[in-house]
Amino acid sequence: MKISVGLFFGGPSVEHEVSVISALQAYYAFEDERYEIIPIYMTKDSRLFVGEDVGDIEAYRNIPALLTKSIHVTLVREDGRTYLRQVKSRAFKKDYNQVLDVAFPVVHGTNVEDGALQGYLQTMGLPYVGCDVFSSAIGMDKFAQKAVLREAGISVLPAMCPNIAEYRKDPEGLLNTIEKEYGYPVIVKPNNLGSSVGIRVARDRAALESAMEFAFGFATRVLVEHAIVHLKEINCSVLGDYETAEASECEEPIAQDEILSYQDKYMGNSGKNGVKGAPVKGGGAKGSEGMASLSRKIPAEISPERREQIREMAVKTFQTLGCNGVARIDFMIDKDTDALYVNEINTIPGSLAFYLWEAVGLPYSKMLVRLIDLALKRERERANLTFSFDSNLLAHASLPKHNH
Ligand SMILES: Nc1ncnc2c1ncn2[C@@H]1O[C@H](COP(=O)(O)OP(=O)(O)O)[C@@H](O)[C@H]1O
Ligand SMILES: [Mg+2]
Repeated sequence: MKISVGLFFGGPSVEHEVSVISALQAYYAFEDERYEIIPIYMTKDSRLFVGEDVGDIEAYRNIPALLTKSIHVTLVREDGRTYLRQVKSRAFKKDYNQVLDVAFPVVHGTNVEDGALQGYLQTMGLPYVGCDVFSSAIGMDKFAQKAVLREAGISVLPAMCPNIAEYRKDPEGLLNTIEKEYGYPVIVKPNNLGSSVGIRVARDRAALESAMEFAFGFATRVLVEHAIVHLKEINCSVLGDYETAEASECEEPIAQDEILSYQDKYMGNSGKNGVKGAPVKGGGAKGSEGMASLSRKIPAEISPERREQIREMAVKTFQTLGCNGVARIDFMIDKDTDALYVNEINTIPGSLAFYLWEAVGLPYSKMLVRLIDLALKRERERANLTFSFDSNLLAHASLPKHNH
């Protein structure tokens, strides 16, 4: 019997489209005969679909047509196993009913990558690849993440995280505090988004005000920190779990503007300075290769000592946050002071950072199997922990029922 792997992607996130690309890229790279991969598309309104077209990147050019041809399913728990089952029966057709052994979420962004999908899968008793609920959640909250990393002695930029109510109550006061604390330039980001959505750098009061308004359009809490003027960005991926974890090659992503934009990350920029990432294997995603299309230098142009320092910090960050599977840790170097900071972790990185592992000789197909093995290992370990104890609390329970 093959191990059936439910590849979940899409979902109610602003990074929905990027997730479709990352997931199908992984689907096409899968080669191992021991696994049956079932692509499961989650629509923006959280319906799950399976079917032949769901695994075809070109079918996403017309999503309404794709859904018409596909089967609407839901997760059902029965006899100690988790099934994907058809929501509505069709006349004269056998209902779709597929057992899942493990889920593989390849989702990006708020409402999915932040522990929400992981929590759903966990509640449904389905083991899953990657970070658990806690590390997914902290991976998405830039401010909470900094606090934990700082406590562990990992260097991060100081930041403030005002909420929209504080800002509306006393905008002048807050802007004064930001100016006093950081001066200019400052950068303002929605606290829990990704893909550079909602981020602006401000060089004066008017720009700061509009950056705040802009970021508050995407989140109720925003992160404000000093903007590094002469910035070098380095990314490094980590693969493993709390016991053993290793770091990949380091890359230097190349921004076309002052910050790495959504355009840079996914749309393939002009790439004058960098090497284009690896194309989608076996896929037909011309010109939209997800994170793999970013212009970058692999390996990054840094000294061997700096490379080792970054790789060690990446592993420490991964393990401090309790991560599992593959993550990408993004670093910033202030070229004026040579200071190195962890900027953020991506717990489900674009393209699963496969190109950083190919650069150290790990083929994508092998990496995918490693990820599934790590999920199954965690499940075996969980099975040995105690999650309930027998008590007869309910045998004598009674409550006042006045309103019923
Ligand atoms: N403190 C900073 N100083 C200068 N540039 C920054 C700073 N923080 C982020 N950036 C730029 O903005 C980009 C996006 O910010 P990031 O914190 O990584 O958010 P996201 O989660 O959207 O990727 C970074 O890749 C970098 O180019
Ligand atoms: Mg980033």
